[in-house]
Amino acid sequence: MSWAARSGMLRGMHTVTFPRPGPAAGDVVARQTDVVVATHALTKTFGRGAAARTAVDRLDLVIPRGVVYGFLGPNGSGKSTTMKLLLGLLTPTSGSVRLFGSPLDRRHRGALMARIGSMIEQPPGYGHLTGAENMRLVQRMLGLRQAQVERALELVRLTEHRDRLVRTYSMGMKQRLGIAMALAREPELLILDEPTNGLDPAGIEEIRNLLMSLAGEGVTVLVSSHLLDEIDRMAGVLGILSAGRLVFQGTRAELMRHSVPDLLLVTPRPQAVAPGLLAGLGGTEGAGPAPDGRSVMTPTQAGVRIHGLAPDAVAELVRRLVAEGVPVHELRREPQSLEDVFMDLTGGARVL
Ligand SMILES: Nc1ncnc2c1ncn2[C@@H]1O[C@H](COP(=O)(O)OP(=O)(O)O)[C@@H](O)[C@H]1O
Ligand SMILES: [Mg+2]
Repeated sequence: MSWAARSGMLRGMHTVTFPRPGPAAGDVVARQTDVVVATHALTKTFGRGAAARTAVDRLDLVIPRGVVYGFLGPNGSGKSTTMKLLLGLLTPTSGSVRLFGSPLDRRHRGALMARIGSMIEQPPGYGHLTGAENMRLVQRMLGLRQAQVERALELVRLTEHRDRLVRTYSMGMKQRLGIAMALAREPELLILDEPTNGLDPAGIEEIRNLLMSLAGEGVTVLVSSHLLDEIDRMAGVLGILSAGRLVFQGTRAELMRHSVPDLLLVTPRPQAVAPGLLAGLGGTEGAGPAPDGRSVMTPTQAGVRIHGLAPDAVAELVRRLVAEGVPVHELRREPQSLEDVFMDLTGGARVL
């Protein structure tokens, strides 16, 4: 079965072909080891009974080797919980995790973790120690060579600040030190939870370049963010979480294919375009009006913008406009932004 076909079987999910760098899609199928992370129906429920809350809901993640995988979702959507499950820091309620082709179980965990570097939630590092002293702790703990530590500091460009106390570091420097700690063991898989949090645009750009160059060397990078902007330009593959569910997995281009262009209706009498005119018109396949009845019509300067109408519905709308005597000066499609597509997928969660 082809890679795309297999991915397509993932429940109701939008499908994926994986981009370069790395092997062609066919090769990935041929060599299962080229899938670095694969989860099956991965689920984590916190609490019991009435208080039970499912933070991660039947996730099927597929992360091929050598990509930057951007893991996006609003705050509270389950990103950190997923990452902790991948690292064995939390035990799944149900479902499974495979890393480098092996199940993440008690027998394999130690060997698997030796191949992974991670930074979850807050950047680590003791404020009362210098960057170099913090790195020395990591070095001792993991039995690393001095050269590995030096290289990690160099990669995140902290070499010249190594002898400063970490509490005097900027947020960006703390994040970079955290990344250096995760990188020092030269991991095959790097898991970074919101490493661009609190960084200015220049800091974000630096991390973006670093992660992309690591992926270029074959390191697989799983990086989360609640901000689309921060991750969009570095990620070859995007996974989008909404309330614990993976609502999309694929490339940016594939995501854009879910975009349904808005309809722009130019009229001197926008007030005549009553929401009732849209009654029963229905949405479209994929990205369409939210089932919760969220407004699909927004006033603009020149008329109204209508979101998510399929061609048949447009034809019907035109008939209704004519019947109501609404003067239509212009009717045109306008592409959605990537941000709009996200909004649709995450149910209009504004953080994205
Ligand atoms: N240890 C925990 N106990 C109970 N609920 C938790 C715990 N960790 C996370 N949650 C809940 O799980 C949901 C997902 O949280 P999290 O994975 O931190 O989301 P994100 O990282 O996307 O912001 C949230 O509702 C959060 O409150
Ligand atoms: Mg989080």
